[in-house]
Amino acid sequence: MSLKENIDLTKLPQHIAIIMDGNGRWAKQQGADRIFGHQHGVGSVRDTVEAAAELGVKYLTLYAFSTENWNRPQEEVNALMELLVHTIGAETATLNKNNIRLQAIGDLKSLPGSCYNELQEAIANTAQNTRMTLVLALSYSSKWELLQAIQQIAEKVENKQLLPADINENTLARHLCTAGMPDPELMIRTSGEHRISNFLLWQLAYAEFYFTEKLWPDFKKEDFYQAIVNYQSRERRFGKTSEQIISK
Ligand code: IPE
Ligand code: IPE
Ligand code: MG
Repeated sequence: MSLKENIDLTKLPQHIAIIMDGNGRWAKQQGADRIFGHQHGVGSVRDTVEAAAELGVKYLTLYAFSTENWNRPQEEVNALMELLVHTIGAETATLNKNNIRLQAIGDLKSLPGSCYNELQEAIANTAQNTRMTLVLALSYSSKWELLQAIQQIAEKVENKQLLPADINENTLARHLCTAGMPDPELMIRTSGEHRISNFLLWQLAYAEFYFTEKLWPDFKKEDFYQAIVNYQSRERRFGKTSEQIISK
């Protein structure tokens, strides 16, 4: 029996975010180099995207490359960028077939030109799709995102378009890369690491976190269902008491 049958479709998270971690360790276990792990990670991306869309999840955000990942050996960075260009190009047709829209968050201008162009093309070619939005976090870090939002807001204050007293949560949210998207209710991280690694610090303020020992290339549909089943077993209190939640 698939765990899919245990999922309550009326209580599905609208937005799920994933830190896809463990490709390097997976490759090492196979006696291969790290790039081999990244290549196999693509299969898990396919599985997860398909599972999320089939269930009816509206937004899926995947952390694919962080600002800090630029500090990896040049050879690995180059291979990741090549893999990205190739995968985005090769998957656009499938995204269209499945009615999935592609978006990206992060400092996209810092990507190599070929990668940036491929990405913009795929975003434009899938812009009309409505079933699910797949968001790739590329050259992304939350501190970078917050800083650029604060700079934009400061400029508006300087130009007298905005009063400091009028800055509220919505003002900041509108200046983040995720403007217009609901905050993720569930954040999954693979590979047994229990940290957030500069991912969506603002947006995850009230998300449920799910950690699994599985390395990303081993993470498949059933693992994704398991994370959702676990999420659905939790009581989300948002500062209230359990009694207040139950009596609702
Ligand atoms: C995640 O796997 C992929 C990226 C960060 C690009 P890692 O490459 O971090 O794999 P580990 O953590 O070294 O095993
Ligand atoms: C986080 O994974 C970034 C991505 C998954 C893209 P890392 O493997 O880079 O994170 P740290 O450095 O171990 O925290
Ligand atoms: Mg890692």
